[in-house]
Amino acid sequence: MSQPAASQALAPSPPRHVAIIMDGNGRWAKARGLPRNLGHRQGIDTVRDIVRACRTLRIEYLTLYAFSSENWKRPETEVAGLMDLLRLFIRRELDDLWRNGVCIRMIGDRTKLAPDIVQLIADSEAKTRDNRTLTLTIALSYGGQDEIVTAARRIAEQVAAGKLQPSEITAQVLENNLETAGIPDPDLVIRTSGEQRLSNFLLWQTAYSELIFIDKLWPDFSAQDLADAVIEFQRRERRYGASE
Ligand code: FPP
Repeated sequence: MSQPAASQALAPSPPRHVAIIMDGNGRWAKARGLPRNLGHRQGIDTVRDIVRACRTLRIEYLTLYAFSSENWKRPETEVAGLMDLLRLFIRRELDDLWRNGVCIRMIGDRTKLAPDIVQLIADSEAKTRDNRTLTLTIALSYGGQDEIVTAARRIAEQVAAGKLQPSEITAQVLENNLETAGIPDPDLVIRTSGEQRLSNFLLWQTAYSELIFIDKLWPDFSAQDLADAVIEFQRRERRYGASE
């Protein structure tokens, strides 16, 4: 059997987990004189394209920041519009996602969501739970600080109940109590629209993630832009704090 070419043997693998802060829908709409919700609507089409592209690029986990805990402060009509789009997305795409091996998960505070959305999410999670091609996690009513506080509270309850010693609390214990338990940390975080911050997204999990900020607004972000970000990721050398 012939040896693979050196370039092939050393070909870096794609990021296993990509997390995306989908930003810029409002600016996209404003630039066209349209209401903000039409920007979000256009953003849904990008979501569909990017989910497909992840399968092509052999990305195993995709996490999308759809609605932050702070987004509840937006005008009521915008919040209602975003929730309608989420309903639309799940109803329209669920069968296709299921057939294509996508496992759907949701992280975030479900207590603030309308009961029909909670039900829709629970049904999607149940229907797709055995799928393994791609895990699509939707962060909805999500805040990274809240997630860590909730994990700390759960651990404190275990200590108070005598099930855990304070000396047994490790990073692993904290991770096991996060909503993302069982999902590897993101290798790559992408934020569109040119803003350069994490905005309370996966604060614990992104400790060693590569960050790529892209100037395009989310509705303009394409499968090719994702492929380019993956190439940029593969060029970077990840050392996890080691010197060489
Ligand atoms: C940020 O743009 C985007 C959001 C707050 C919502 C993103 C949601 C979607 C694309 C639709 C729902 C998602 C799924 C997964 C079905 P912005 O409004 O902050 O834009 P701006 O910064 O230009 O004002």
